[in-house]
Amino acid sequence: MNVVSLSDYLAQKIAVHDLPASVADAIEGLSLAACSIAKLAATNGLAGHSGNNLGSLSGGQNEDGDSQKQLDVMADDLICDALRAAQVGCYFSEEQSEPVHLHETAVVGVACDPLDGSSNIDTNLTIGTIFSLFNMADCDNALPPKGRLHLASGFFVYGPQTALLLSFGDEVAAFALTDKGQFEALDWQVAIPQTSPEFAINASNAAFWPKPIQEYIYTQSYGAGAASSGMRWLGSLVADAFRIFRRGGVFLYPEDSRKGYEAGRLRLIYEANPIAFLVEAAGGRASDGASDILDIPPAQLHQRVPFIFGSARCVDDIINTIKTAQKGS
Ligand code: AHG
Ligand code: MN
Ligand code: MN
Repeated sequence: MNVVSLSDYLAQKIAVHDLPASVADAIEGLSLAACSIAKLAATNGLAGHSGNNLGSLSGGQNEDGDSQKQLDVMADDLICDALRAAQVGCYFSEEQSEPVHLHETAVVGVACDPLDGSSNIDTNLTIGTIFSLFNMADCDNALPPKGRLHLASGFFVYGPQTALLLSFGDEVAAFALTDKGQFEALDWQVAIPQTSPEFAINASNAAFWPKPIQEYIYTQSYGAGAASSGMRWLGSLVADAFRIFRRGGVFLYPEDSRKGYEAGRLRLIYEANPIAFLVEAAGGRASDGASDILDIPPAQLHQRVPFIFGSARCVDDIINTIKTAQKGS
């Protein structure tokens, strides 16, 4: 089987989509940073040995109010340095309160969740890095454009094996980090099945969900399909997402009635948009319960958004349940 490296794939895509070389440089830079992050997580995540316990608190807090773990901060620094070296224009990060201006005249901007699933670092569970790229010229109000206009997006997942899902909008390509330290393309035609009996939601919030979500989850759990339905909740968006790309399913983090969760938990610019860009390229659907995620214009860097994505028919069913409830009210 001929080996296709990430570099080979990027060269092809830059040519086909007539993109600036800095798009490939930025993704190459992100992949090098990801290798370092994966190694740090694999050797220093846990407490109680000679390592640095990078799952412990750094003492800082990010703009969205999350207490930062040491690896959040280190991942952010590694990625920012890599993007500066790749001549990226501006870096929009979960861990930075404001956009980081790197090269004023550069063409490409990057949005990033440097370390997704931080609460899982010291429990030895899968975590990752989420990113998307766009034209700086498409930025509006010093914010990235809506996801529909992005050039590419992807996420690294630091699991038993480090992997990458990447899309330029036309398909989703999958890569695995090999023992040669290279990302090599997997022989996997990434496509999200149109339907699946599996759902992912943090069931401990059930009392706070909107009624239509309570109704949908009740039907999955007690209705006709109960015997075949399955539930997973991994506490890392990247881990739940990777499973959905692998075998389908639907992920829900809706708005709920807890203070601060009026728009759910996940952030539009550096979590929902990059994942939604990949999901649509893989034949799935990504919505806030009313609109496609990719059509939502960002209003502020750390804004949250209700996030429902995965198998298209399942997402449609949820949206119809919400619409029916709204008609009835
Ligand atoms: P982050 O670690 O970047 O803040 O993201 C955590 C997110 C996401 O990865 C995950 O799906 C969700 O938080 C889990 O939320 P709960 O802890 O409320 O279940
Ligand atoms: Mn995250
Ligand atoms: Mn994060």
